[in-house]
Amino acid sequence: MLRSLIAAVTLGALAPLVALAQTPAAPPMPADSKPADTKAAPPRAYIPGLEQFMNVILTEHNKLWFAGRAGNWPLAAYELGEIKEVMSDVQELVPVFKSLPLADMMDAVIVKEIADLEKAIDAKDARQFAAGFDRLTAACNACHQGTENGFIVIKRPTRSLFTNQDYRPHDRPRRTR
Ligand code: HEC
Repeated sequence: MLRSLIAAVTLGALAPLVALAQTPAAPPMPADSKPADTKAAPPRAYIPGLEQFMNVILTEHNKLWFAGRAGNWPLAAYELGEIKEVMSDVQELVPVFKSLPLADMMDAVIVKEIADLEKAIDAKDARQFAAGFDRLTAACNACHQGTENGFIVIKRPTRSLFTNQDYRPHDRPRRTR
């Protein structure tokens, strides 16, 4: 009994080594050739068009405003974080757009406005938030102008896009109707 147990444990421990030994070794490479996989075309992934990223940013811009107006600072911080995330996706996936250096333009045009708005949200300062939101919006439009998209004009929203999201602060559980 004990012996067979030891045998089973030993075999179990050896199994990965055995599997390793059976793995065929890579064929030796000629000295001047690169590994094969750097030559192969990378798999084609679907990258959404810039306007799709922008429409997501537009939605978050709307939500950000109503979160801030309602004094829901954690939600405002969250929405601004989402805007940053989509913008860094744009920088990574669409760094150049119609031969314009979009990633660099994004850094130049909007990073400061985002940082200022973050400070207003941290400070839970409604006036500073409204002013910072308008400056962020102006930065959106500055880039649209700089990319010959001056006909795309962003402004303060007058109403929430969604009626099924409650923007009020929910520090304590409250009735939903
Ligand atoms: C670094 C440049 C840049 C910044 C910053 C920028 N955009 Fe854009 N945006 C563009 C470009 C370029 C287009 C045109 C995309 C196209 O032609 O496919 C665009 C298009 C759009 C569109 C039109 C999409 C549509 O289908 O109607 C919206 C909406 C938009 N942006 C919203 C925003 C908002 C909101 C912000 C700020 C929070 C912002 N953008 C900041 C470059 C920028």
